Amino acid sequence: MQKITLTQPDDWHLHLRAGAALKDVVNFSAAQFRRAVVMPNLKPPVTTVRQALAYHAEIKDALQNPQDFEPLMALYLTESTHRDEIKRAAEHPCIHGFKLYPAGATTNSEAGIGSLQNIYPLLEIMERHDVPLMIHGEATDPHIDIFDRELAFIENSLFEIIERFPGLRIVLEHITTRHAAEFIRQAPAQIAATITAHHLLYNRNALFQGGLKPHFYCLPVLKREEHRLALLDAAASGERKFFLGTDSAPHPRHGKENACACAGCFTAHAAIELYATAFASVNKLDKLEQFASFNGPDFYGMPRNSSQVTLQKTEWEVPAGYTFGNDTLIPLEAGRVLTWKFDKTPQNSQ
Ligand code: NCD
Ligand code: ZN
Repeated sequence: MQKITLTQPDDWHLHLRAGAALKDVVNFSAAQFRRAVVMPNLKPPVTTVRQALAYHAEIKDALQNPQDFEPLMALYLTESTHRDEIKRAAEHPCIHGFKLYPAGATTNSEAGIGSLQNIYPLLEIMERHDVPLMIHGEATDPHIDIFDRELAFIENSLFEIIERFPGLRIVLEHITTRHAAEFIRQAPAQIAATITAHHLLYNRNALFQGGLKPHFYCLPVLKREEHRLALLDAAASGERKFFLGTDSAPHPRHGKENACACAGCFTAHAAIELYATAFASVNKLDKLEQFASFNGPDFYGMPRNSSQVTLQKTEWEVPAGYTFGNDTLIPLEAGRVLTWKFDKTPQNSQ
């Protein structure tokens, strides 16, 4: 296959940051995706509708073609989120859900949830108003092995949330294990998951191959090969519960190449190409559109995109770095050759 055409995809999990960094990264996503759920883990976090609308305006301002890309805003859930904020979020067309970060689980999660019980009254309101909950599903107890934290969260917290709030729509974000994929498959219809391109392409060896490789460090951390294969099987299965969420998470080079490196892989420069590479590796390119363009909007109850995009089988070299404020951004696969190339101009089929 030399060329594939698909309905324009959306990214259901994206970090865009703010200020100069935002300006430097947002157009990579806008070039490929029609919409993206923008994560609220800024400093300070985006906890209110008012803040989300200001952030939405800042993103629109940073876009080269603002009419071509729609940021879908998510609010950061805290133990002190006001119940009225949930009602306001439910009513506002720009807001598409709340993000639950267990406190300490990942980058800028300090304001997240310490004890789940404390937010049960909030989850009840979200359930009542049909506001989706996006979850960073990792247990934070430092005694739990880092490779087991996703499973521990599913067993210790997610079962209970689903049992208590059976009507709550939940997206388990960036799943990384066979356990999570199996769990999502057998869970009720309102429970879904996003999967990143890097978790489909790499296992944990990438972190240590020939030395410590901080640009492969993200959270949840890469897992064993058996988990990568299970994720690839889920993503390319065509099942409606799995959809694209890049979790593209840019950090300045000095933050990544650091004795205390921050977590996050930047993939927006080649997002759909990386997914295509993963799907092609198992001869499932025919399932890419379902995963990248259909399952997400169907889950969120939004229309599928009407524009189409094309991927060509052409070799191109990923740049060694991009400008990122007054630092550099090292993209995933920097300096390596990719075999799929996105055609930058979506043709509107209408
Ligand atoms: C994300 C970031 O940098 O904001 N990092 C990451 O490793 N994925 C936060 C997150 O989604 O966990
Ligand atoms: Zn993320």
